[in-house]
Formats: sequence, structure tokens, C-alpha cells
Amino acid sequence: MEKFFITTPIYYPSDQLHIGHAYTTVAADCIARYHRMRGRDVWFLTGTDEHGQKIERKAAELGIPPRDFVDPIVAGIKGLWRRLEISYDDFIRTTEQRHVRAVQHVFQQLYDQGDIYKAEYEGWYCTPCETFWLESKLVEGKCPNPDCGREVEWVKEEGYFLRLSKYAERMLNHIEQHPDFIQPESRRNEMVAFIKAGLEDLCVSRTSLRWGIPVPFDPEHVIYVWFDAVANYITALGYGSADDSKFLRYWPANVHLVGKEIVRFHTIIWPIMLMALGLELPRQVFGHGWLVLDGGKMSKSKGNVVDPNILVDRYGLDAVRYFLLREIQFGSDGHYSEDNLIARINTDLANDLGNLLSRTTAMIEKYRESVIPQPGVEDELTMALRETAGRAVESFASRMEALELSNALANLWQLVRQANRYIEDNAPWDLFKNGADDRLNTVLYSLAEVLRIIAIPLSSVMVHAPTRIREQLGLTGEARWNETNWGGLKPGTRIARGEALFPRIETPKRNQQASSPGSENQISIEEFGKLELRTVRVLAAEPVPKSDRLLKLQVDLGEEKRQVVAGIAQHYAPADLIGKTAVLVANLKPAKIRGVESQGMLLAAVSDDKIAILTPDSDVGPGCKVR
Ligand code: ME8
Repeated sequence: MEKFFITTPIYYPSDQLHIGHAYTTVAADCIARYHRMRGRDVWFLTGTDEHGQKIERKAAELGIPPRDFVDPIVAGIKGLWRRLEISYDDFIRTTEQRHVRAVQHVFQQLYDQGDIYKAEYEGWYCTPCETFWLESKLVEGKCPNPDCGREVEWVKEEGYFLRLSKYAERMLNHIEQHPDFIQPESRRNEMVAFIKAGLEDLCVSRTSLRWGIPVPFDPEHVIYVWFDAVANYITALGYGSADDSKFLRYWPANVHLVGKEIVRFHTIIWPIMLMALGLELPRQVFGHGWLVLDGGKMSKSKGNVVDPNILVDRYGLDAVRYFLLREIQFGSDGHYSEDNLIARINTDLANDLGNLLSRTTAMIEKYRESVIPQPGVEDELTMALRETAGRAVESFASRMEALELSNALANLWQLVRQANRYIEDNAPWDLFKNGADDRLNTVLYSLAEVLRIIAIPLSSVMVHAPTRIREQLGLTGEARWNETNWGGLKPGTRIARGEALFPRIETPKRNQQASSPGSENQISIEEFGKLELRTVRVLAAEPVPKSDRLLKLQVDLGEEKRQVVAGIAQHYAPADLIGKTAVLVANLKPAKIRGVESQGMLLAAVSDDKIAILTPDSDVGPGCKVR
């Protein structure tokens, strides 16, 4: 069986992930599902990149060990992937022993063979990006990464260097001889230019931090987080361990899917590490574009992130998955907006696909007592529909193989739209009225057959709708790729008409919205997403001196403790609050109230004469997200 190994970046568990991370992972999931459907032996790897200064500092700020800091975030990331039904085969955490040991093995080998050597270095370092920058590259003395722009620090220390320069020529040849290695093409040109400008050896160790994998023969140094991170693609397969059967089976990767900003690490440093180890290079690194909002790239540091959980709550999983893959040409940047999401749902999903299913099943119910009829003679319109169906499946496949995910869906929707036109062109209601039974049978059969076929490729993108389509057509079991040929549907099958596949999302019209009372106060889901609401448990409470209104509370936020001042002293005795679970606005700027620091705000219902703090109606524990 042909194998197919696909990976996502391993994400930093420095914060909860947002829709940008979900974008890469949903795309990888869709590609993995497609190849599984084609009968390939798929291995789909994702995980978390847990070392480095960023995480060490965040944990230190909270006074907790880095491992305790990342654990709940990693649990949240896994929860998000469950929610999005990501069908990964393995999730690697770089803090796992299987990874640590293998990275040390790789480092040792490269050192023993002289590809890593010790020397002194100094330079400007950007901690959030975990990257050294040449002075000439800095922008007004700050990090030149357009997504960052933060302060850099001058760092000087002894370190271990990887001989990138020795392999530069070979690397360039590889890129030039394998046009598919870096995709899309624009990224390849950037990387070629980068290497041609000259590759310097790379410092792959640090002494300025402890939170990393120790250099095995010099434990004062920890291994550079990017060296550690990219190695996950082979350590997760058991490379360098007693059981390397997965490595032998799946390496080299067919695709490393990454965002465009980290293509450099994946197409220069990583392949050179592999060359030095004498291993095959990945077949392809695909650097997709960014989801951008009005203010630029969506990123935690800009505070403009959208939480995928909220979108799924509102619009359903399949709609969100479809939107992400359809809306943006895979490879280019794409503008994210909730209006576009709603427009896609209403046109592509509710109008085109949903209506096709509901009209087809309604007509079979009404005209043929819910039984799929034996088709009659095939006329020209039907022949054209059948041909489009065959072509749509084929071009879906070839677009998927080329990772043109949006085009693959666009092709499939041409078929959906043609099937809707086929209804108009044949006017089955007239055929029924005129007793044109033979033609009506052909039309109804063909419509049901098109839907059955559409559900097959669609099941690599959506996880529930294809099954629901099949159920309404009276089919059981999963859609299979080898059943895409026309004629698979058995006449006599009893259909089971069901609910609308994708209900329309009603939004007030813009002009109505503008004139409706209170609409000027409405906020978008992005704005709401900026609020971080979490449950807290009250650990201690005492009055604020010289105030009859304020109480000073110590609260447990799960991964940290906070002090909060609340104006509830006239409604609660301190002792009554202890042990209560409440809701905290956790990302409110800290403020001093009567000289007492308050790190957040408790939510409470406030009427003229009463204040009641909000508590969840079952015990969810502290630190739980409130949405
Ligand atoms: O870079 N649009 O992790 P990270 C599209 N740990 N994709 C986006 C995005 C956006 N606005 N924001 C994030 C790291 N992504 C390293 C990777 S791999 C060996 C180590 C996606 O948590 C995109 O795939 O910063 C991007 O490359 C990745 O998240 C960065 O995730």
C-alpha cells in the first residue's frame, strides 16, 4: 500500500490556539482524510513545541514550573482538535522522553561527525520569535519580522554551531532539481534568493535559558528550540530509538504543511540537518498564506484573534471547516471576516447544497412515495449531468493531490450548481402534472445519484454532512471513493427525508441594522473573542480598608492566583465568598482601586438594590473558559 505522511507545525503552547492554527490543522486533516479515502496508508502527525525562552519566561512570570504552565494549554489544544474532529494519528509533545532522547542522539551524531562545532557568538536576539537577526536587518532597532516588531536583546555566549554553509550548495541544487520541494512557487523563489545571499552557520545551542533539551555532552547548554522542534517529524516516528519501524515505514514526509513565515526553517535548516544525518528529505514543504484581519495577520500578540470554538458553537463544525478551505486560495493570504463566513454558509451550503438535497428528497417523497425510482431513458440534459459528475470527481482528486483545496471544492460546487439548474430545466413538477413518468423517474434518480456522488469527495472536508446526505438518501455506512461511478444508487431504496442540512443564517440587513435601536452598541464576534472570561475559585476575602463597598479577594484561576477588588461588600460577607466559583474578566488591564491592585473583574448581576455574583450552575473548577 502506498504510504502518505503529513505533518502540521507543532504549535507553541504559550497561549490557546486561534483560527489561524486551526486553519493549518483543518487543511492537514482534510488532506489526510482524502488520502485515507484513496486507500493510502496515512500517518498524520501534529503536536506542541514546548521548549524555549518564550515559555520559560511566561512560566517564570507566574512563578510556576514551565511544565505546569504548558500542561493545561496542551490539554486545551487537544480539546480543540477533538472539537474540530482532527483525525491525527500521533500528537508529539517535545517534552516527551521519546523526543528528548532522539534529539540528543541527533545532536551527538552531528557533533561526532563534525557538522556541529563549538564557537563564540554574539548578536541581536528576538525572544518571541526565538531568532537571531543581523543588525542590518533590524527595523528601527527592533525585530524586523512584520508580525512582531518587538525589542531585541544583545546576546553574547559560547555556543554550538551547525555547518549550514557546508551544505548550502547541495541545498540549492536540491531545491532547483525538485520543483515540488517548496510550494507554492513564490516561496521557492524567496528561499533560493535567501540561500544565494549566503548561508552562515547557525548557532544551535543556548546557555541563556534552562528550559530546553540539554546538549548531551555539555549540559550547561540547551539545544536551540528550532533544532529541537523540527526534529519532531522524525522523533515521533521513532527515529534513533529501539523501535524505528514507523520511521522506516513513513519517512520521508510527503508534505510538511506550514505557515509561510516558517518556511525558512523547514526548507533550509531542517533539510540540512537531514542531509547531514544521511536521511532522505521531505518530498514537499507547503507554505500556506495567512488569515488576515483588517489590522494585519491574526496573532495573539496583536490581540485580534478569533477563537475557533466560538465559531463552531455558532455555525457548526462542517460550515467552519468548509469556509476555511473554500474561502482562501491555499497558498495565498486571505481576509477573514464573519460576514464572509455567513455569506458562504447562506450561498454555498444552505442555498446550493442544502436546497439540492431538500428539493430532491421532497420531490421523491411527493411524487414517488419516498422510493428512488428506476431511471428511464437518458436524455441530453441527464447525460451532461452525468458527465459533469464524473469530471467533478476527477478534478476534485487532481486538485487535492496538488493541494489546491479551494479549487477542489469550487469544482465540486460546479456540479452542485449544475444539478440545481437541472431541476429548473426539467421542471419535475410539470413532468408530474403531465404524467411524463419515464422522464420524471430519470430526473429524480439522477438528482439523488448526484447527491450520493457529491457526498464522497465531500467527506474529506466535512465530517457530518456527508453522512447526513447519505442517511437522507437511505444509504448506510461510509462513503467510499471506489463508489463514485454513476449508477451506484439502487432503485427501490427508501429515502428518509430529514432536517435542512445547513439552515440559513439570518442577519439583519445592513440598513435595518443601522436604524434598529441599540445596534450602534453591537459588537462583532471578534470583539467578543477578545474578552477572556474564566471561572475562578475564591480563596480568601477581606474588606479594603476605609471603604464600605470594596472587598479584596484572592482567587484561584487554575494555573495562577490573582488578586481582585470587587464592589460587593454591602451584599456579601467575606466569609460567604470563600470557596465560591465566580466568573472573572481575566484579561482586563490591572488597575489600582483605592491603592489596592486588582487583576481582573468579577462578573455580577446588578439591579437597583442588589448585586449577585455569577456562578456556574455545576462545579466546573477554576480556570474554565466562559463563552
Ligand atoms: O511557529 N494564518 O508555532 P506557532 C494562518 N512552534 N496560519 C496561521 C496563523 C494565521 N494568522 N497564525 C498561526 C511555531 N498560523 C513553531 C512551529 S514547527 C517544527 C515549529 C499557523 O504556534 C501557521 O501554520 O507560532 C503557522 O506556521 C503556525 O500556526 C505557527 O504556530
